[in-house]
Amino acid sequence: MSKSFLGTAAPTYAELTLVLEIAMGVGLLIGAQLARLRRYRWHAWCQSLIVLLNLVLIALTMIPAFHRQVLPKLPSRIGKRYYALAATHAALGGVAEFGGMYILLAAGTEILPKKVRIKRYKFWMRSVLVVWWMVLFLGIATYARWYMIWR
Ligand code: HEM
Repeated sequence: MSKSFLGTAAPTYAELTLVLEIAMGVGLLIGAQLARLRRYRWHAWCQSLIVLLNLVLIALTMIPAFHRQVLPKLPSRIGKRYYALAATHAALGGVAEFGGMYILLAAGTEILPKKVRIKRYKFWMRSVLVVWWMVLFLGIATYARWYMIWR
């Protein structure tokens, strides 16, 4: 695995994930602001792109890392911060991405049956944004625990 460009012990893919995820977290905040300014079309494009890009990142980098480094040690090592952080992050991350995909499908398409479409958009969009940022902090903490000096 090649060395990181940020100077930590992380492989390049993890550094890239970190930088992209932080940019995407900020992007979602900018997207939320677009909705407040009533630029709904721009808002929809911005948030949808980020949710879909996140799906790609989860599939390409995070799920494989989870399978390689976390899953084989569960449940016996869940008491260790190294595994606990990553496992909590992964579980809540799944919820955030699922929530994002659900809003995307419910608000932007007609795919879902009427019964399961959401009506309180604002509430759900804000809730997913809050959970997303919690996941982002947990991801940064996972990165720090895995690759930085106090390891
Ligand atoms: C909203 C959703 C998510 C966000 C914002 C997010 C964000 C992040 C960030 C910033 C990192 C640090 C960069 C890195 O170490 O690669 C990270 C790492 C990680 N995430 Fe996520 N993540 C999300 C969902 C998930 C999901 C669903 C899983 C489930 C498998 C997951 C598993 C991991 C693992 C195992 C790492 C450590 C990867 C490594 O360093 O090799 N994440 N995440």
